Amino acid sequence: MQILNLKLLNFRNYEKLELEFDPSMNIIIGKNGMGKTNIVEAIYVLAFTKSFRGSKEEVIIRNNADLTRIEGTVKDKYKNDYKIIIKSNSKRVKINNTFIDKLSDYLSNINVVLFNSEDLKLIKDTPGTRRKLFNVELSQFSNEYLKLLNMYNKVLKQRNVYLKTLYYNSNASLDYLNILTGQLVELGLRVYNYRAKFIDDISNYISDNYLRIANREGLRLVYKSDFKDKSKDEILKMYLKEQQRDITLGKTNLGIHHDDFEFSLNNFSLKDYGSEGEQKNAVISLKMAELDIFRSQKGVTPILILDDLFSELDEEKINNILSFIDKDIQTFVTTTELNKLTDDLKYNSKIFTVEHGEVREEKYEIWI
Ligand SMILES: Nc1ncnc2c1ncn2[C@@H]1O[C@H](COP(=O)(O)OP(=O)(O)OP(=O)(O)O)[C@@H](O)[C@H]1O
Ligand SMILES: [Mg+2]
Repeated sequence: MQILNLKLLNFRNYEKLELEFDPSMNIIIGKNGMGKTNIVEAIYVLAFTKSFRGSKEEVIIRNNADLTRIEGTVKDKYKNDYKIIIKSNSKRVKINNTFIDKLSDYLSNINVVLFNSEDLKLIKDTPGTRRKLFNVELSQFSNEYLKLLNMYNKVLKQRNVYLKTLYYNSNASLDYLNILTGQLVELGLRVYNYRAKFIDDISNYISDNYLRIANREGLRLVYKSDFKDKSKDEILKMYLKEQQRDITLGKTNLGIHHDDFEFSLNNFSLKDYGSEGEQKNAVISLKMAELDIFRSQKGVTPILILDDLFSELDEEKINNILSFIDKDIQTFVTTTELNKLTDDLKYNSKIFTVEHGEVREEKYEIWI
């Protein structure tokens, strides 16, 4: 899959921008704060309809503008034109100039695997951050996953509200709680199955990837869930056992909304024992495993974005990572230092130089 071009209107520090990309390697170079991440962020927003950074969605709209528009042509088996228009209170998407009403019908079309320095927090951060990864990645594989998750969250909310009703009104019927619990378990199990399979698939690749990047064996990813290895009946019994506590606390204490996963290196948790470098290499191995799964299961090679990945890595690791990237993976690399990349790579890439929101295309010439 390749994004052939990108057209921006009022996106971050770009008032207007039009770029044509290379089908394989694109290098975006510039000093800090010039607008490198903004370009790859726009590609990401076109794919996911929201950014990977910032909690408020409207921050991507250029200051003092009232909307931002991103357009791009993506080539997979066919060529399709994608467009997204975001205002502070609305978002609309189009494929081939036709509005798509349901975001879930739009989301799995452009496949992107992104590495950003934020991802380095993945291992140390809260389980919520790691669940977000499940949700973003799985929504690219299946639009059913996102629908199930939304339904689960809706029932969870209803159940929590009803638990409070039961707390304040001891005459309220437990029958309704049982119905909601049944629905929650049903939906939760379906979400669980998606996640368990995803972790299983990643496990097939992640340790080999780590070996290739860091020259060490033994990286594993373990899925932690209240539902793990349990039948539906066993799960329902667990809910019954927790029921009184749920009512007292006014919230649902069991379920896939508490899921987590853990990296371990030779059975030691990377969160508790891992060095910075080990954690970084584990996250890169995970991202590369995502790419492997896309290729083997969907038959699609996603667009790979490596935002500022190389700044803190030594040349050997950079070359190990680059060895994963064959020519058919369209890749975007942002960097402040071109000299970290080999001449061969620079020569075979399209190079964009960014300066204060102006982008120049440059050819790299080797002087002999
Ligand atoms: N909504 C916005 N309107 C106008 N400018 C914005 C907006 N959001 C961000 N910017 C500007 O974009 C610039 C940052 O761009 P970007 O994050 O792409 O930099 P970068 O080249 O990736 O830098 P670094 O090397 O530090 O990662 C900042 O100068 C910031 O002020
Ligand atoms: Mg940046």
